[in-house]
Amino acid sequence: MFEILHRDGPARIGKLSVGGKVIHTPTILPVIHPFKPEPWISQIRELRLEGLITNSYILKKGNYPNGKDLHDFLNFDGMIMTDSGTFQEHMYGEIKEGNLEMVQFQDQVGSDIITIRDVFSEFDQEREEILSGLKETYRRGLEAREASKGYLAYPVQGGIYSDLRIESASLMQSLGGEYYPIGGIVPLMERYRYEDVVNIIINSRKGLRTSSVVHAFGAGHPMFFPILFLSGVDVVDSSSYIKYAREGRILTDTGTIELDEIAEELPPSPYFDSLTLDELRKMPEGERREIIGKHNLYVTVKEISKIREQIRKENLWNYVEYRVRAHPLLLGAYQALLKHYEYMEKFESRSKKSPVFFSGKETLERPLVRRFIDKERKRRSGVVIERKPYSYFAMNPADFVRTPFGTISLYLDETYPVAQSLFPGEYYEKDISFEKFRNPEWNDFLREKVNYIFNYQFGVKLFKIIDKNEMGFVISKNTGKIRNVTYRNEILISLRATDGLFSLNMTSAKLLHAALQYPKLRIAVDQEISSFIKEGRNVFCKFVKEADRELRPGDEVLIVDDADNLLSYGRTLLNREEMLEFKSGMAAKNRLKSTE
Ligand code: GUN
Repeated sequence: MFEILHRDGPARIGKLSVGGKVIHTPTILPVIHPFKPEPWISQIRELRLEGLITNSYILKKGNYPNGKDLHDFLNFDGMIMTDSGTFQEHMYGEIKEGNLEMVQFQDQVGSDIITIRDVFSEFDQEREEILSGLKETYRRGLEAREASKGYLAYPVQGGIYSDLRIESASLMQSLGGEYYPIGGIVPLMERYRYEDVVNIIINSRKGLRTSSVVHAFGAGHPMFFPILFLSGVDVVDSSSYIKYAREGRILTDTGTIELDEIAEELPPSPYFDSLTLDELRKMPEGERREIIGKHNLYVTVKEISKIREQIRKENLWNYVEYRVRAHPLLLGAYQALLKHYEYMEKFESRSKKSPVFFSGKETLERPLVRRFIDKERKRRSGVVIERKPYSYFAMNPADFVRTPFGTISLYLDETYPVAQSLFPGEYYEKDISFEKFRNPEWNDFLREKVNYIFNYQFGVKLFKIIDKNEMGFVISKNTGKIRNVTYRNEILISLRATDGLFSLNMTSAKLLHAALQYPKLRIAVDQEISSFIKEGRNVFCKFVKEADRELRPGDEVLIVDDADNLLSYGRTLLNREEMLEFKSGMAAKNRLKSTE
């Protein structure tokens, strides 16, 4: 069972529970050679990793003690995934161990995540050949499902053909599993063909349910992780840390350094701390390999924890744009990702905890920014204000603002991402006072502003649903900005200082409910839980019956029962597709206050 705990667009921090074992994603499963587990298992424990992957084909060929549990054998009680020999077939030619044999073996040894024997699609293979491989992989999936009660991973193949990736993903997900590794990408990774890998990941995701766990087979270089996880990967596995170490190659978050070519000093690492460059070079080979391997695994794991931090801060896009500048082919991969606008946009909230930092023309093509520009960019004449905060410099409510996003309404001055963005040449004004807004002269401006933002956010003008002569404002004592909008002397909505969008309360929720047709702005939940929702409990995916397609993560939402009776209001964590596809986890936070 998989659920989302935090998210930033398509990237998510999730929790996967399989048979009592838990891993938190995004994460890496280091590849362990089953007969040479040390010192790596000890390091995995030290780094507090929750899982690993090992190879059942190597186990089966080796001297694996009959009937022994793999966790005992490896002395590791976390999540163990096993691969099936497909990669060995790709590397060394046909193997005789068939699908059923490998699946049953993985079952017997007590693997937590069992991989079927997929057919590896080579990136330079003919379409027809790939297609017949996909069909065979699907057949093996069916066969494995019949034969095993274990938790099965169904790989998605399809080479670099977009349509075949989508088709393979749809086929494999029709088997009803949850865990989908994306296969056939190692040869592309080795050639730095990051653009192809990103397209493969996103196309595969298009054919999968949003609630699937997406695993990238062998995409283990940390410099690729930011964009890999932004593409929506949840798990990677990798043996790069050992493979590179064997060749004296040191991983860093921006690339690879050859030990032989370093002139100055070793990169910072707890594993190199007491060593000079010379000492490391002169070490016996085995010892050196172990130290470099440990360093390599360490930087790999640290990069993932950095990415998790960025997801929590909702800062991943800024981070990715910074990190893809390490290599032109990473930048190319990011540009390829941006071309999937229609798909990516659905996962993007309308405001984030972090601002939009401009780092190049790609920033304006981020789905969140592009959606805003498509909706709000207007051609207008009038006085143009180019300095922030725009409304401070406005002399007249009819002025317009020219922003790096285009010419937009002055009314969106405080709204994300207009105010919460930074472009070269923009400086923060200090000690700005919005005192002028206390002057009745600006009252109409404030009214229009509220009306405009309301329409931008909820798709209906506030003045259509209330009498504007009965509305008033609570202005902040400190900043002079609007804090609350009142209606007939009751608070109706609050303008959030953080993103310049409104928060609802029960009064405004009722008005919106009456003004907008079902299912607009709504999540409809099972009648059975109505009383819980009315008490302020959060909405969990398994109770969601229907939801508005236009909802995005972070939106204000009306919570209704399946007969459209208003129960409460809240804030979404997921979009509609996710709410309906996930079986566990939260869909929306209930924000009903106990006083209402
Ligand atoms: N390891 C790396 N690539 C693959 C793949 O495509 N399939 C399987 N089963 N394992 C892999």
